[in-house]
Amino acid sequence: MSNSNSTGPEVDFETDAENQNNPYHRTAESYEKKLNMPVVRNFRRAEARKLHQVFNTVIKPEDTVLEIGCGTGYYTRDIVKRAAKVIALDDSATMLRIVRDRLPEADRKKVVFVRSEGTQYEPETPADIVMHIGVLDYVKDWEHFLEHSLRNARRAVIFTCPTNGPWGQVFHLLARWEGVRIQRYHSRQIEAWLHRHHPDWHCEMSLVGLNSGWSGAMTWVGVLTRRSG
Ligand SMILES: C[S@@+](CC[C@H](N)C(=O)[O-])C[C@H]1O[C@@H](n2cnc3c(N)ncnc32)[C@H](O)[C@@H]1O
Repeated sequence: MSNSNSTGPEVDFETDAENQNNPYHRTAESYEKKLNMPVVRNFRRAEARKLHQVFNTVIKPEDTVLEIGCGTGYYTRDIVKRAAKVIALDDSATMLRIVRDRLPEADRKKVVFVRSEGTQYEPETPADIVMHIGVLDYVKDWEHFLEHSLRNARRAVIFTCPTNGPWGQVFHLLARWEGVRIQRYHSRQIEAWLHRHHPDWHCEMSLVGLNSGWSGAMTWVGVLTRRSG
């Protein structure tokens, strides 16, 4: 079934079965309330500052960006202004409705909305950039997920994931409370995997958010770029 009661591109809301480890099937409506909580808001600003620097250097006006886990469009609203086309994918139908309804019509025309689990979707041709912000937290098999990202990206993959420092542990325990399993990451596990399996890609990992001396940071921002030549 597609949604036809609004202008702009249609959203295919009825595709794959629900991904059981994705809490946003239950909490999509309250996601933005969480983002506006004081600590989360500060962390989010720090993350966004770093990501804007990355977008400035990586995204070109002629690009197609595949955004996996677009959520309510916190970053979609930004990248749609920088790129020629955005494929906004999420496996929560509610998230897709929210992001679609929020985009101004001119921006919405540049977006294709896809409801799917990330790795179940194969675009007809690779995108220039694949990005997923706050998604590796929930995936069971991160190597499989990143393989899919690299296969579908011509130039770069931009992502975030939780650290396995104290903040990552807090996040993990809070999520366990809700019955969700959160993956936490060492930068070196991703760097070593990439080096071994994809030596033609370069990896840059930076720490952002609540990065006090004792606690360490909360999140990794990863930028994978294809080496030229
Ligand atoms: C933490 S939210 C982040 C949303 C948005 N990227 C942002 O930064 O505000 C994670 C989003 O990823 C989606 N998601 C989680 N796992 C997914 C998967 N395997 N495939 C597709 N979407 C997924 C959730 O539905 C949710 O909208």
